[in-house]
Amino acid sequence: MSQPTIESILHEERLFHPPAEFSQQAQIKSLEEYQQLYDKAKADPQAFWAELAEQELHWFQKWDRVMDWQPPFVKWFVNGKINISYNCLDRHLTTWRRNKAALIWEGEPGDSRTLTYAQLHREVCQFANVLKQLGVKKGDRVGIYMPMIPEAAIAMLACARIGAPHSVVFGGFSAEALRDRLVDAEAKLVITADGGWRKDAIVPLKDQVDKALANNSAPSVKNVLVVQRTKQTVQMEPGRDHWWHDLQQGASADCPAEPMDSEDMLFILYTSGSTGKPKGVVHTTGGYNLYTHMTTKWIFDLRDTDVYWCTADVGWITGHSYIVYGPLSNGATTLMYEGAPRASNPGCFWDVIEKYGVNVFYTAPTAIRAFIKMGEHLPKARNLSSLRLLGTVGEPINPEAWMWYYRIIGNKRCPIVDTWWQTETGGIMITALPGAIPTKPGSATLPFPGILAEIVDLDGNPVNANDGGYLAITHPWPGMMRTVYGDPDRFRRTYWEHIPPRNGQSLYFAGDGARQDEDGYFWVMGRVDDVINVAGHRLGTMEIESALVSHPAVAEAAVVGKPDELKGQDIVAFVTLEGNASASDELKNELKKHVANEIGAIARPGEIRFADALPKTRSGKIMRRLLRSLASGEEVSGDTSTLEDRSVLEKLREG
Ligand code: WT7
Repeated sequence: MSQPTIESILHEERLFHPPAEFSQQAQIKSLEEYQQLYDKAKADPQAFWAELAEQELHWFQKWDRVMDWQPPFVKWFVNGKINISYNCLDRHLTTWRRNKAALIWEGEPGDSRTLTYAQLHREVCQFANVLKQLGVKKGDRVGIYMPMIPEAAIAMLACARIGAPHSVVFGGFSAEALRDRLVDAEAKLVITADGGWRKDAIVPLKDQVDKALANNSAPSVKNVLVVQRTKQTVQMEPGRDHWWHDLQQGASADCPAEPMDSEDMLFILYTSGSTGKPKGVVHTTGGYNLYTHMTTKWIFDLRDTDVYWCTADVGWITGHSYIVYGPLSNGATTLMYEGAPRASNPGCFWDVIEKYGVNVFYTAPTAIRAFIKMGEHLPKARNLSSLRLLGTVGEPINPEAWMWYYRIIGNKRCPIVDTWWQTETGGIMITALPGAIPTKPGSATLPFPGILAEIVDLDGNPVNANDGGYLAITHPWPGMMRTVYGDPDRFRRTYWEHIPPRNGQSLYFAGDGARQDEDGYFWVMGRVDDVINVAGHRLGTMEIESALVSHPAVAEAAVVGKPDELKGQDIVAFVTLEGNASASDELKNELKKHVANEIGAIARPGEIRFADALPKTRSGKIMRRLLRSLASGEEVSGDTSTLEDRSVLEKLREG
């Protein structure tokens, strides 16, 4: 079949075949080849993963058993010994890649730096020795709260090298959010910077760390390491705080990678759920290394001459898996960018692509929608001909945005991989393989080989083609999260109890609604729980509600998402006030600011609506369905018979 033209697309013939020259050189070259891999993996998942683990990774010691599955707890490569920093660095040093660019960094404003594999290895070894010198031992947790600078990746790899699990906290989170995470993980040390650049302004990261640690409120933290990035004046507490460059300078570059057990914890990463405080998602070493390695290799189809750029922040799972670990394990050149498109520099992404000749580009639908708004003259003014593959992640992509990405950025030459996955899955689960699987705009297409995904109802029964249902995974995979840090029961409740086991087999509940079409393609609709996705950032409505009610003027709060053209969803908060507080625009702004202070700017509500009362059922549950309809300006439909006080609804509608 030939490439569809724009005319045929308008007639809804939206199936895009990989270009022949792409397929010929691809890791996986045809749909048949994908199907064979998929079938082989399905027939014997353990043999499939074991063969790849043996072929693709370095092990200090081979495993005894491939998998040990005691639902919902899984172990992969039992008793195997491995180190992901070794796989990302050392093993490339004995090859020609020794002097290949491992990390290209484009900083703000106008800074840049390139580290070869040999240089990166040296920095990581030195920094690992700095950590040891400060008493960090295997098993100790280390907090990382940093801007997008090479030191962030160096810090992660150094932690992995000595077996100290890292807990990276996104630099946009507030001091309060940072403190909660440091306390939950009982971090022994925090790595930060004097400041970081965010859209032409400096974020005072070190000040935030000081706030988080004030009054001994995170007592596990003994030391803070500070990278000098912006040359801000910062307070350095003697004995506790140290400059990175002071200690790095004198550190030995000899630091052999610690042989870790496959199931030793590699990192904790906090993510929002529908209830309670953010949970610490735990990933372990061997399975995560293999899963991010294989997905990077087959999905991004990296060639040795490629420059690969994922625009995420290392504070999110996408940065962990697809800026740092997956690409480096493959010996790729990974680009890290400190900036972000903004009014003063709307074309900066295209400048970076042109400057470095980026070949593979991975970004979020919310960014694409922002680019559409900024205008196609910006990308058209740059030479983007180096691009050969595009990817998206974070939320469903609307077909119009997909088409724009395909036409304007990819010049109708580049396949698009729409990758569905989660913090919990460690790596990409449902995606096209770019040389093999024809794409449909808006569909993440088919499961990665070894992933058994289904759409089911709440009894665990498969639904018919094109019927909506819940996205579930029916077999464990190597990159799967192992538990919630410090709360295995929450792990069980959140992911394994919404759907009952089927024929004795536990099903992983992803929290997303989806359907599979007649070709088996997956169409993910979005969260079915109280999690909202604002510009690709995942937030729990309950966290935002807790932040709101911590303000003295607020009696009750209910937060819902409403559709937003740019961000996908925006936050709407319905708020009732304490008796002596009065509704005003000033108070609205104050409450928005309050949430930003409590959680971070990403959680700032787009809209606050004051109400006399919230719609509740007779048993006292807030009827969010009604609020969602009201927030998005839809007619309130469906059953309202359980509403306790109907006049509440009328008032909200008028208000
Ligand atoms: C949630 C996970 C892991 C990548 C970054 C987000 C949504 C993610 C897609 C996609 C439709 C998507 C889901 C998922 N999501 N990618 N390609 N199509 N929805 O990680 O913060 O853990 O959020 O993001 O709703 O459950 P996360």
